[in-house]
Amino acid sequence: TSASLVLDPAFTVAPVRRRTFGTFVEHMGRCVYTGIYEPGHATADEDGFRKDVLELTRELGVSLVRYPGGNFVSGYRWEDGVGPQDQRPRRLELAWHSIETNQFGLDEFIRWCAKAGVEPMMAVNLGTRGVQEALDLQEYSNHPSGTAWSDLRVQHGEESPYGVKLWCLGNEMDGPWQIGHKTASEYGRVAAETARAMRMVEPDLELVACGSSSSAMPTFGTWEREVLRECYDLVDQISCHAYYGNDDGDTASFLASAVNMDRFIDAVVASADHVGAELKSKKRIDISFDEWNVWYGDRSRRTDGPGDAWEVAPRRIEDEYNLTDAVVVGNLLISLLRHSDRVAVACLAQLANVIAPIMTEPDGPAWRQPTFHPFAITSRLASGDVLRVETSSPSVETAKYGEIPAVDAVATYDAASGKLAVFLVNRSVDTPVEVTVDLTRTGATEVLEALSMYDDDGLAVNSATQPDRVVPKPNDSVRLADGRLTVTLPAISWTALSLS
Ligand code: AHR
Repeated sequence: TSASLVLDPAFTVAPVRRRTFGTFVEHMGRCVYTGIYEPGHATADEDGFRKDVLELTRELGVSLVRYPGGNFVSGYRWEDGVGPQDQRPRRLELAWHSIETNQFGLDEFIRWCAKAGVEPMMAVNLGTRGVQEALDLQEYSNHPSGTAWSDLRVQHGEESPYGVKLWCLGNEMDGPWQIGHKTASEYGRVAAETARAMRMVEPDLELVACGSSSSAMPTFGTWEREVLRECYDLVDQISCHAYYGNDDGDTASFLASAVNMDRFIDAVVASADHVGAELKSKKRIDISFDEWNVWYGDRSRRTDGPGDAWEVAPRRIEDEYNLTDAVVVGNLLISLLRHSDRVAVACLAQLANVIAPIMTEPDGPAWRQPTFHPFAITSRLASGDVLRVETSSPSVETAKYGEIPAVDAVATYDAASGKLAVFLVNRSVDTPVEVTVDLTRTGATEVLEALSMYDDDGLAVNSATQPDRVVPKPNDSVRLADGRLTVTLPAISWTALSLS
């Protein structure tokens, strides 16, 4: 079977946004403690940051990190996590049923971001707290000095303001599990009031209102509309969260998860534009897809249940990802890139140990999950403009989404360097597909890289002892002549091509 696509640099979606390659660090399980932060680890630096994880974070090509939650933020007192570490309180952490030692907090996070070379994206607590505490946090973070909160930061040894530009107004406030869960109109009001006050200090902040925790929420659609009716003029983005799993063994539908993501994004764009039309506004609200990933729920193999114990950094949802999961992650990135006109920010949730591309053992090694690779390669190769790609492909039947194209693709073209990148998946569970790419309008004549992820065993995983069991391999089937490229995509595979 065969598929084809035509690439034309004249047909662009939008520039590639570096913020598409964000991730997420939550005080949850071992993401912070024994993940990015472990004083006493053989690789720990003077701040207690694991250098092995810092290195992998840079290799992953992360542009931005959202912090400190997640459900955690809705019960968090940010003041607990600044100043001398030996004076910081231990607290009950309700969202994930653990003890929070506060040895890592805002000051450490900002230092860690500088070392990792990433932009911080902060969330404020709109669960147990409100406008005033958000303002205090903003003043501590961003005001130069000469006020109580900013002078406290200086006293803590941080002369320069943190300059955090991008802020989430709470987290998943539509979820009944959220501490301080609200109705859409209650939340919309709080979001509006918080945004209004924060902008009185810094008019040019970028603010993200909470959208739906998933497109399956019963309030999905009405939530976006009601929230944006309250705060349309005061925020820049509305969030989307989505996690996909193969819990019921329906691999064909699981491989089509990006179809759900495409529809989710289109629906939120439509809801936002509907409110914009009602308000006769010229402003457009973009999307912050600030939590997305594969998440297996109960099938996580290395998870201790909450039980009754209150522990420090217990193992929580340490999903072990396989080759098929990596193909889905690669496809979700294709969906996000394709929507670069409206998706302004995206965060793979999370960065270390908790449903993460980077795994660590306490006092032990760090390694890359299979899902690490499509993210790292896409971040490295995507540049310039995202191209509008029309794919003609055989279809596959799925229980959840009906007939869908087996091959999905997106491309980017960088006019400055003349480099072209093409990302493709074959979502068929059993049939390889030969793809022909018409490159005549791009002028590309040379294949710089052709990497694919596939395996005879779709369930193959990496581990501390076999960290490179699942890695990208050169795709030797690629041929390019007279402006026509052909490449064979194995069944259940993800492929990246770099051309010039
Ligand atoms: O990323 C794990 C959790 O998933 C986050 O805390 C929450 O926002 C979402 O439900």
